[in-house]
Amino acid sequence: MKKKNLEIITYGNDILRKIAAPVEKIDQDVVNLCREMIQSMKAAKGIGLAAPQVGVSKRIIVVLQDPERAKALTIINPEIIECEGEIKGEEGCLSLPGIIGEVNRCARVLVRGLDKKGAPFEIEGTEILGRVFQHEIDHLDGKLFIDRFSFVRRKLINKKLRQLKQETLAKLTGVQ
Ligand code: NI
Repeated sequence: MKKKNLEIITYGNDILRKIAAPVEKIDQDVVNLCREMIQSMKAAKGIGLAAPQVGVSKRIIVVLQDPERAKALTIINPEIIECEGEIKGEEGCLSLPGIIGEVNRCARVLVRGLDKKGAPFEIEGTEILGRVFQHEIDHLDGKLFIDRFSFVRRKLINKKLRQLKQETLAKLTGVQ
């Protein structure tokens, strides 16, 4: 049986602005969610996804780890414990289709979290991986990459943001 991909929540839905709760217990539901998030991320051709983006306000992220983008990594309750340097680079987000822009990030981060078995681990991220870690962990704190845009860039996308929000709200009321 082919599983349906999780629906990706778009800008305008309040869940994207909530601070996600830590995962207290890694049960089968959490493991299933991680697997479905990876599947949905790949289907959407993303390189990272945070649980709030699929409507679950929990501290879980998945990222595509290697350059071939085949191997996905799950981090439960991720935390940035080291951040070094600064680097500017272009980002996009599955929850904000059609919007891209430059964002300043730490050049190198060290992330600590739990794997799907609950074992603690640390992983270093530089370049794209470091950027994805920071972008996805931001999602868990209700932050979006557009919040980090320059004033000028933010002004330029304002209209697009309003449209996107309207579309999201229309979809939400349509379902209810
Ligand atoms: Ni995103």
